[in-house]
Amino acid sequence: MGVTTLAGIERAARAHLPREIWDFIEGGSGAERTLAANREAFSRYAFRPRTLVDVSACSPATTLLGSPLALPVGIAPMAYHRLVDPEGETATARAAGAAGALLVAGMFASRTLEDITAAATGPVWLQLYWLRERAALAALVERAEAAGISALVLTVDAPRIGRRLRDLRNGFAIPPAVRAVNLDPALMAASHRAASGSSGIADHAREQFDPSLTWADLGWLRERTRLPLVLKGVLTPEHASLAVDNGADARGGANPGGRR
Ligand SMILES: Cc1cc2nc3c(=O)[nH]c(=O)nc-3n(C[C@H](O)[C@H](O)[C@H](O)COP(=O)(O)O)c2cc1C
Repeated sequence: MGVTTLAGIERAARAHLPREIWDFIEGGSGAERTLAANREAFSRYAFRPRTLVDVSACSPATTLLGSPLALPVGIAPMAYHRLVDPEGETATARAAGAAGALLVAGMFASRTLEDITAAATGPVWLQLYWLRERAALAALVERAEAAGISALVLTVDAPRIGRRLRDLRNGFAIPPAVRAVNLDPALMAASHRAASGSSGIADHAREQFDPSLTWADLGWLRERTRLPLVLKGVLTPEHASLAVDNGADARGGANPGGRR
């Protein structure tokens, strides 16, 4: 029998991957206290059973913002799946489809949106960062609609990337063979620039992400798409209300794995 638990998958992945890539995936920011707190909080979740109900025809199927799912589970957007598998996001899309789960492809996906949606048998959403280069954002949104993406997820908690000490120690940069192929290479160049004591990921975010983004800017994106818009990284009830008031259809309330 193969690997059967998440911890087993983690062990297998760690044994398989170069150290700096493992650190990029598993590492959090600072002393990784938020990361540890997240794990601890998650381990406290419990199901609350209701007994003596008819369970002969159970189905967890649901529809999320118009996307039908056999399972109410979504794969969070993660950049550059080809760091861990030569096929990258198309393999993830097939796996999500087989499980009946949602795939949220990252803006920094390492396969084209068209390849990802062609490989998918279920819904695919697209995550966006707000780039200083708004024209690139607008072009990607247009392309996403044409490629059959079902919703957009705007990450709003990353005006900057947190100090991920492992990446700084490793002088981490995305290897040249793995690229965010849906964007102009010039916009992504800093991600590939390795330097001792610095992180290409953080340098890139500082260079390309627009930290001046406010609620007032959301209308610009809302006007450019008919797709449902989800805000990722809204953590308080007040901001959840603001999100809806400002044109969002939903908001995700996770802190991003203690990585910011
Ligand atoms: C390797 C890796 C890459 C990620 N890349 C992105 C990204 O490109 N965009 C984004 O919004 N979030 C990204 N995230 C954050 C995840 O979407 C998610 O918010 C975070 O992992 C928290 O979920 P978890 O506690 O289940 O890990 C990434 C996370 C990991 C581990």
